[in-house]
Amino acid sequence: IDASIYSTASKASKVVASEIANLIRARNQTGQNTVLGLATGSTPLQVYSELVRLHEEEGLSFKRVITFNLDEYYPMHPEEIQSYVRFMNENLFDKIDIPQKNIHIPDGTIPKEKVYEYCKEYERKIDEAGGLDIQILGIGRTGHIGFNEPGSLAKTRTRLVTLDEITRSDAAAAFYGEERVPRQAITMGVGTILKAKKIYLMAWGEPKAKVIKKSLEGEVTEQIPATFLQNHENTKVILDEAAASELT
Ligand code: F6R
Repeated sequence: IDASIYSTASKASKVVASEIANLIRARNQTGQNTVLGLATGSTPLQVYSELVRLHEEEGLSFKRVITFNLDEYYPMHPEEIQSYVRFMNENLFDKIDIPQKNIHIPDGTIPKEKVYEYCKEYERKIDEAGGLDIQILGIGRTGHIGFNEPGSLAKTRTRLVTLDEITRSDAAAAFYGEERVPRQAITMGVGTILKAKKIYLMAWGEPKAKVIKKSLEGEVTEQIPATFLQNHENTKVILDEAAASELT
């Protein structure tokens, strides 16, 4: 697996943003769409701020970009402060020229009996758009990608999942208490992610060092879903020094 280590998350994020921008520019020139798989959380924040800068200062246009977010808490109303809809609007979409109709984020308000059909439709929309050109990923301390927690098999598709206790405790501060963190989420599956043509897995800081070592150097196992990336032909792992500190 191809890993690059940068002195800071900021430098690393600029590299990822510029690779995304290069693809968008090339596609814009030939009038083709670019399909991006996006993540939330703290990890991609500087990628998004750099993409906003490229839009504002260098005229990078997102008019032909189609996005699919990895996941959303369930249940979750889009107006709530912890919603990933709100996160994406505030950190990226409100600041660029992407058409609203090109944005897809799993809907945390779908009634439970409709979730199965909804998830199938989400997959269908990704396929119809031509598949994900680039998927960006963070990683949870459980080894989750998206919200594919330990036990998620390689072939899983978009579905309703139960969050791991470690994931819920990591989200406790944002929800003002662990008991307020939703127990479930809608997430793209491991199989959905692995169909992306190019994947960037990013991790910053010492708290991610152990799971990065297991994910890159350990055996491939559904106990650490990020290990499935070892079987993807075109994954780049982008780390800062602290996240890389346990690698041999
Ligand atoms: C978010 C997502 C999660 C996060 C992971 C790391 O859309 O899918 O897998 O990437 O939990 O979160 P942060 O970046 O906050 O450390």
